[in-house]
Amino acid sequence: MRKNIVAGNWKMNTTLPEGLALAKELDAALKGKTVNCDVVIGTPFTHLATVAAAIDTAKIGVAAENCADQDKGAYTGEVSAAMVASTGAKYVILGHSERRAYYHETAEILKTKVTLALANGLTPIFCIGEVLEEREAGKHFEVVEEQIKSSLFDLSVEDFGKIVLAYEPVWAIGTGKTATSDQAQEIHAYIRKVVAAKYGETVANDCSILYGGSCNASNAKELFSKPDVDGGLIGGASLGVDKFLPIIEAF
Ligand code: PGA
Repeated sequence: MRKNIVAGNWKMNTTLPEGLALAKELDAALKGKTVNCDVVIGTPFTHLATVAAAIDTAKIGVAAENCADQDKGAYTGEVSAAMVASTGAKYVILGHSERRAYYHETAEILKTKVTLALANGLTPIFCIGEVLEEREAGKHFEVVEEQIKSSLFDLSVEDFGKIVLAYEPVWAIGTGKTATSDQAQEIHAYIRKVVAAKYGETVANDCSILYGGSCNASNAKELFSKPDVDGGLIGGASLGVDKFLPIIEAF
């Protein structure tokens, strides 16, 4: 079944004590509250185990922001999907535009990461999205279609059914410039059509497609009201409970 999800992406922010305090504050704020979406927080690797042990993970899922494209072995500095899973994290954000742009993660590398994440029982939150020049050239549909096809379309129906997609127009990330709800709906509907053409209507209808890019307390409700927008991947506004909680409550 399609789920509403609000996922935080802390990126490279917070020391361990700061991150732990933030996670605990969110946990306390959600205690005894009924919310209409799944809540996830994506933290740096260093925080995963501590955060997962300190909060109610039945209520707040923990996500890594990346994992290695290798199973294990002599890859100094890398963190494998199995290691992530062993911390209590249940999700991994993959293919974020910052990873693609700054760390040269290709479609092929991401395909391997997705496979390893799934093999280790993690739910990939797979990010796609066009840069400004592509949007201005009207190429955003083909760009996201290619990103999905090249990294995900070798998956079995069963495995694809475990993927969460996050559409994040690069021009909207950290810029304060949000896609309008109509722009989001238009491309989310297109993404669902692309998925339906490959995996069928049921799989496409069950797939959660999140919007990311300057999503905040003031625009979340409008974005989430669209039929094909199933939640958000939240960067800046996930770094304070005062900003993150209203987004969760927008559902
Ligand atoms: P932002 O980041 O909410 O700060 O724009 C979103 C993201 O990069 O996931």
